[in-house]
Amino acid sequence: MEIMRVLPKANESCWCGSGVKYKRCHKRSQEPVTAGRLSPLRPVPDSIVKPAWADGSNHYERWNEPAVKAPEIIERMRRTGREAADTLAYLGTLVAPGVTTDEIDAACHQAAIDRNAYPSPLLYPGTKAPYPKSVCASVNEVICHGIPDSRPLEDGDILNLDVTLFKEGVHGDTNATFFVGEVDALSQRLVRITKECTERGIAAAQPGGRINDIGRAIQTHAEANGFGVVRDFVGHGIGEQFHTDLQICHYYHPDLNDVIEPGMTFTIEPMITVGNFRGRMWSDGWTAVTVDGGRSAQFEHTVLITEQGPEILTTPTDTGTHPYWTL
Ligand code: MF3
Ligand code: CO
Ligand code: CO
Repeated sequence: MEIMRVLPKANESCWCGSGVKYKRCHKRSQEPVTAGRLSPLRPVPDSIVKPAWADGSNHYERWNEPAVKAPEIIERMRRTGREAADTLAYLGTLVAPGVTTDEIDAACHQAAIDRNAYPSPLLYPGTKAPYPKSVCASVNEVICHGIPDSRPLEDGDILNLDVTLFKEGVHGDTNATFFVGEVDALSQRLVRITKECTERGIAAAQPGGRINDIGRAIQTHAEANGFGVVRDFVGHGIGEQFHTDLQICHYYHPDLNDVIEPGMTFTIEPMITVGNFRGRMWSDGWTAVTVDGGRSAQFEHTVLITEQGPEILTTPTDTGTHPYWTL
């Protein structure tokens, strides 16, 4: 007689006696993320003021934008930052099993247009080809710059949505990681610690301090919790340009010892991994995934340095549905 080993169904309690659902316990973790199909390019009405890259030429001229912004530019950045944050909070309400990332992209694209804003990622120049969508949607082991496609979200996924809007001549850049349905305990801890890393990085951004104070605070908290800090992508100066030459590493970098000055605007956007922090790029030239397939989470804010300390420019009108404030 043959002894059959019958495994439980996904929602039955695990064979090991933990009392936890099998799918949340010993069932092999989800399959690696694979690329789905892309929908056609979404047009932007002529009435919306566009950045230079909106022509799809895959290159644009950068200029030497001052790190310290004029008060009038800061006022515009406050407004655009809030619009980006409100858009992100809205997209978060759409996250659910079965929804495709392309549907979320369509919603982001329309929300930007409704706000009379350009979705900054759309046709942004890249090493191979311009970015083809209006939001970045990074699932599970995707570190950043995941391209929205036909893949339906699965119960247990984590999803980072990164929204940048261009309005009134300035950019507002913000992201958050959302849970899709019921997520395993380790992923929940990863996302919570990543949020805390972002908070600690922001709190370390003090006038008179040094740029590398930010990465030191982030790295200390991530590594104390056994997690890794991604090196391949950094925070950046932002304003009239999406990315200026100011770099904000999320780990301690001794050379980045420039003084933090009032009037500076930059992003803090740590990507934190359960395993190896090293990444590799898909052949699309955009999607960055962890080398070991471990999950990665991220939160991002556009921050202004004031005399009193850091001010988050990407706070939504209603913080009640946004994971940065509710987790
Ligand atoms: N929003 C991303 C950042 O935080 C950049 C996205 S560039 C894109 O810097 F082309 F992928 F959209
Ligand atoms: Co950014
Ligand atoms: Co971003």
